[in-house]
Amino acid sequence: MIYFDNSATTEIYPASLDTYVKTSKRVFGNPSSLHYLGVQANRLLEQARKQIADTLQVSNEEIAFTSGGTEGDNWILKGTAFEKRSYGKHLIISSIEHPAVKKTAEQLTHFGFEVDQAPVTEEGIIDVNQLAELIREDTILVSVMAVNNEVGTIQPIQEISTLLEKYPKIHFHVDAVQAIAKIDTQKWLTPRVDFAAFSAHKFHGPRGVGFIYWKKGRRLQALMTGGGQEGEQRSGTENVPAIVAMARALRLTFEKINQRPEHLNHLKDALMKGLSTYDKVTIFSPEENSAPHILCLALKGIRGEVLVHALEEKEIITSTTSACSSKKNTASSTLAAMNVASALATCAIRISLDESNTVAEVEQFMVVFDQLYQRFSKIN
Ligand SMILES: Cc1ncc(COP(=O)(O)O)c(C=O)c1O
Repeated sequence: MIYFDNSATTEIYPASLDTYVKTSKRVFGNPSSLHYLGVQANRLLEQARKQIADTLQVSNEEIAFTSGGTEGDNWILKGTAFEKRSYGKHLIISSIEHPAVKKTAEQLTHFGFEVDQAPVTEEGIIDVNQLAELIREDTILVSVMAVNNEVGTIQPIQEISTLLEKYPKIHFHVDAVQAIAKIDTQKWLTPRVDFAAFSAHKFHGPRGVGFIYWKKGRRLQALMTGGGQEGEQRSGTENVPAIVAMARALRLTFEKINQRPEHLNHLKDALMKGLSTYDKVTIFSPEENSAPHILCLALKGIRGEVLVHALEEKEIITSTTSACSSKKNTASSTLAAMNVASALATCAIRISLDESNTVAEVEQFMVVFDQLYQRFSKIN
């Protein structure tokens, strides 16, 4: 089987799974308990926090644990809205955000908040000047993803950071779920970024666990109230085994940070070169400002799900633009924002790579793609 759906989720590293199992068995105390089992669990929890903070070169108190990217985005958007509602009710998100941001912002409009979407160019990159024009006196948050999950475009977080220097009161949130360990940290964690959301299962950690970066001095309202864990900010007994396993996966993923982009770019270039020789193929991921692991393309006249299943029959796993939209049968909202005609957008599929993928797999993909192309051309 060739697994080319790593943006949907990655396979857990054996070492991370091992940590999860061992921690579950050996350190089962509740970190809030006073006895030694609780102390032991709390120590591991804080070690994991420190490891993550050290990896991102931030301080321990700037890391808060969550159940994943969706919770992180929800917390940052709603937590900002509720915290700053007396100062303003205006939020800006980009038009290509993940539903975890888009739907959350939409939900906030039912509570009296106003949301503007910053448009993207046809290449899928935010126009910073247009974003600047949307800023108002009452803007409380700007939320822009670092790497788009559907086409892989890298967003100009550094330029937006420069723009927002003039607006120190606005919270700047970056959804970094697809960016971490794939593109340079400096490209998305600038000193102006206030918050960022992450998810362990995108970097070979367990599902259902993640963390946010929360800059010291910034304030958010808690979404989860209760026993007061995470410094009263996010209640609920901590999932210590998953958190410790996540920290291990992050450390392992960063160990290969220097080799990864080169290897992934090599694979992606080979795919782009191969696919661009077909008349009926459109590649949506731009050559520049594009993350090394995501390639979005369409085979004209063949719906995305038909191509995904045809590839699956040949044991090649891909997806229609994003895992969460796959079953909804709707065209990609990122492609719509890029002004791609909806007939072509419904033909889109996403290939998402990982460092474990090989040149031989890419070659095998191209052989299978060629067979399918000939087959579909005859039917058409
Ligand atoms: C950019 C982005 N943000 C948020 C999420 C949601 O993360 P999770 O699956 O951990 O809730 C995803 C998942 O695909 C994503 O790609």
